[in-house]
Amino acid sequence: MAATTTKFPNLPLLIFPILLLSHRASSAGIVSKTLNNGANITDGETLVSPGGSFTLGFFSPSGVPTKRYLGIWFTASGAASVYWVANRDTPLNNNSGVLVVTAGGILRLLDGSGQTAWSSNTTGTSASTVAQLLDSGNLVVRENSSGGRVVWQSFDDPSNTMLAGMKFGKNLKTGAEWSLTSWRSANDPATGGYRRVMDTKSLPDIVTWQGSVKKYRSGPWNGRWFSGVPDMDSDFKLFSVQMVDDPGEVTYALDATAGAPSARVVLDEVGKVRVLVWFPTSKVWRPYPWLPRDACDEYASCGAFGLCSVDAAPTPSCSCVQEFSPVNQSQLSSGCRRDVQLECGNGTAATDRFTVVRGVKLPDTENATVDRGVTLEQCRARCLANCSCVAYAPADIRGDGSGNGCVMWKDNIIDVRYIDNGQDLYVRLGKSESATGKRNIVAKILLPVMAFVLVLAAAGMYLVWICKFRAKRRNRDILKKAILGYSNAPNELGDENIELPFVSFGEIAAATNNFSENNMLGQGGFGKVYKGTLGQNIEVAIKRLGQGSGQGVEEFINEVVLIAKLQHRNLVRLLGCCIHGDEKLLIYEYLPNKSLDFFIFDAANKYLLDWPTRFKIIKGISRGLLYLHQDSRLTIIHRDLKPSNILLDADMSPKISDFGMARIFGGNQQEANTNRVVGTYGYMSPEYAMEGAFSVKSDTYGFGVIVLEIISGLKITLTNYKGFPNILSYAWSLWVDGKAMDLVDSSLAKSCFQTEALRCIQIGLLCVQDNPNYRPLMSSVVTMLENETTPLEVPKQPVYFSYAGTQGTAGENASSSINDMTLTTVLEGR
Ligand SMILES: *[C@@H]1O[C@H](CO)[C@@H](O)[C@H](O)[C@H]1NC(C)=O
Ligand SMILES: *[C@@H]1O[C@H](CO)[C@@H](O)[C@H](O)[C@H]1NC(C)=O
Ligand SMILES: *[C@@H]1O[C@H](CO)[C@@H](O)[C@H](O)[C@H]1NC(C)=O
Ligand SMILES: *[C@@H]1O[C@H](CO)[C@@H](O)[C@H](O)[C@H]1NC(C)=O
Ligand SMILES: *[C@@H]1O[C@H](CO)[C@@H](O)[C@H](O)[C@H]1NC(C)=O
Ligand SMILES: *[C@@H]1O[C@H](CO)[C@@H](O)[C@H](O)[C@H]1NC(C)=O
Ligand SMILES: *[C@@H]1O[C@H](CO)[C@@H](O)[C@H](O)[C@H]1NC(C)=O
Ligand SMILES: *[C@@H]1O[C@H](CO)[C@@H](O)[C@H](O)[C@H]1NC(C)=O
Repeated sequence: MAATTTKFPNLPLLIFPILLLSHRASSAGIVSKTLNNGANITDGETLVSPGGSFTLGFFSPSGVPTKRYLGIWFTASGAASVYWVANRDTPLNNNSGVLVVTAGGILRLLDGSGQTAWSSNTTGTSASTVAQLLDSGNLVVRENSSGGRVVWQSFDDPSNTMLAGMKFGKNLKTGAEWSLTSWRSANDPATGGYRRVMDTKSLPDIVTWQGSVKKYRSGPWNGRWFSGVPDMDSDFKLFSVQMVDDPGEVTYALDATAGAPSARVVLDEVGKVRVLVWFPTSKVWRPYPWLPRDACDEYASCGAFGLCSVDAAPTPSCSCVQEFSPVNQSQLSSGCRRDVQLECGNGTAATDRFTVVRGVKLPDTENATVDRGVTLEQCRARCLANCSCVAYAPADIRGDGSGNGCVMWKDNIIDVRYIDNGQDLYVRLGKSESATGKRNIVAKILLPVMAFVLVLAAAGMYLVWICKFRAKRRNRDILKKAILGYSNAPNELGDENIELPFVSFGEIAAATNNFSENNMLGQGGFGKVYKGTLGQNIEVAIKRLGQGSGQGVEEFINEVVLIAKLQHRNLVRLLGCCIHGDEKLLIYEYLPNKSLDFFIFDAANKYLLDWPTRFKIIKGISRGLLYLHQDSRLTIIHRDLKPSNILLDADMSPKISDFGMARIFGGNQQEANTNRVVGTYGYMSPEYAMEGAFSVKSDTYGFGVIVLEIISGLKITLTNYKGFPNILSYAWSLWVDGKAMDLVDSSLAKSCFQTEALRCIQIGLLCVQDNPNYRPLMSSVVTMLENETTPLEVPKQPVYFSYAGTQGTAGENASSSINDMTLTTVLEGR
């Protein structure tokens, strides 16, 4: 644990070896590192930053050799990664361009005839100046003295790209603004149609405009993240964000963690914001999450008082705030209006109420009023007292979680969507009893109408019933075919002709008290799970897949067929299924003891799992996985192992569940690739999370993480534990220091099982190694766990997700690895 303060100086060498090589290789055309007054760079010459990462020079976009531009790019990936262009709207038509530093510190790009094609917007200085390309990629012109004033810098004139160290936003005092403007097309750096700016009218919000049309908002800054981008605050991120939100300045900057790979944020030519990360070994820029990420991010997609949800992917669905109704049923983007008018302003004391809409990206705050100095309670009172206020929310969610400060919306709320980790929004409703006023209308107009509708409905229902019945039969046939198809396929499980009971929807509804809340056992990524009693007292768990759960018929059949055919003590058993219209339900054996996470992460429940039980659980999971990978004669990759998917039966034997994302490998297939990376952070192996490559070794990784969690009682997603970024680095550090027993959960008395625990920790670390080839197969894991005398290999340090921290945390060999590298990736389905 000795402080390793000398760690970082080596890093650029390790991270950018290629850059250094290419720098040396092409040094012929490089002019000196600084450009003095009067010096120039001609087409063909380049100016390279001291560390070699960035190059300034002339380039032509691919396919347009006649147009020459002056730009700065990442040396390693060449002109394809241009991040700044000087003369984007005034290309040169031949190779006779030259960049000169003129007196006063003005940069001028001259064409062959000496005409200025572009110049830096410098106010000039009488001091002598020099131009330099810094290691950050910033081209600066500064006065020629130590610490001389910067008179111009390319970071103040961004093109379509943001780099670490660059500001984005506004200086409210000087009026300076840093914004991004898209290229016109991939091969044309000319000013394009999209602009991304910091909106400072009320709470800071980053808005993408197409001309004068708002396309996408990040959502208001809430003190921790932009309301619509909660993953900004996630544990696995590439750079930290420096947000300045002062009266004088509202800016946002990326602050690359030391040693992290290069990253850039690009506003592309179709208005999407992309994060690109440079992987030096594979020499590629990998794209990370795109914003806007789905149809609900389209500005105002559900209109005023509409709520957008992507549960029913791929099309977004709109709903209205409670006690609001669609303005136009057939066009939901036209928004919603109140059922009950607000009482306010009519002489009476305010009798209006609020409804809370949970988990959303807050509405556009363009016309909202912000008051930071009040509590949420005061905010509510203020909103109630002001007739134009229609909704409120805390302006800042830092602190104890309830939130502080006050944003109040007037007239309407627009562009609200549901989002994971979203915020609470309080919407004002009219007095509840005022429905009395409506009753007359109900009697006079609605009743006759309703009677008529009822008659129609009765006739309609008969038709629907016939159709449903047919649809049900069709679905049953599909399912049967699928199951039979699998069971007839050669070279697979022996137990042919699986007869899976189809249970009727009515029976299931009865068994679960009509899906009552009291029967709900939990809520997973793909739907809710209920407890039910079928037939003569058979307790079952019923998984009701959300209608828009993202689990399509294909995945459903996948899961049904798979589990129906799998029979193992450590796998959960499927008893039946049901398809009812759009609804899909799975009936499992009921396991009374919930899932593993309910025990190991709970301060009280963890005492219920003593070491022998935990060891039994670890061994059980490994056997279940071995069966999936090998012994079932199929190769099945689970892809979503995590404690909440490990159920415990009455004897605390583990049973692996949730096969919705499992994949079957046929024949000799060892590895597959997917563009749709699904799974859960922390449990996904680096090669899967980053490249979509999965194999049995990705499950090994998930297993390793679970083992370390079972032993330590700490969640993989826990950050900053005892100064360690996560438990992988914590476990590794204890292990190299010979203090591995410190990892063991304090709820366990440690004396009696030291050997077993140490073996488990070592096996866990073997399983989470970055390189899948080093991770053991489950067959070896089972042998290592069952047989104390099997020798164990020495694990290598897991570095990809283990972000070796800022202060000396890891052992001295940490300096030979990529430090501080963490990741974000596109997650679907969860
Ligand atoms: C800048 O200063 C250095 C040393 O102080 C000097 O050698 C160099 O000639 C100066 N350059 C210009 C353009 O004045
Ligand atoms: C560029 O510099 C060279 C000498 O370094 C000089 O001969 C040439 O005239 C300069 N060109 C311009 C346009 O200033
Ligand atoms: C390059 O273009 C400029 C401006 O169009 C022109 O004045 C110059 O003569 C051209 N140079 C060559 C070598 O064609
Ligand atoms: C250059 O700066 C002036 C004032 O400082 C401003 O009016 C002008 O728009 C700027 N030009 C460009 C191209 O930014
Ligand atoms: C509702 O939307 C539909 C489809 O856009 C449109 O044809 C219809 O006129 C709208 N109805 C009203 C009342 O605005
Ligand atoms: C005030 O209430 C009366 C009847 O209760 C209603 O007719 C009127 O429209 C209300 N005015 C406002 C501004 O809500
Ligand atoms: C804010 O007010 C302006 C002027 O009334 C209006 O054009 C704009 O649509 C409003 N913005 C929002 C988000 O309601
Ligand atoms: C009520 O709210 C509006 C807009 O939010 C604001 O302009 C006005 O000053 C507020 N009135 C009072 C009395 O606070």
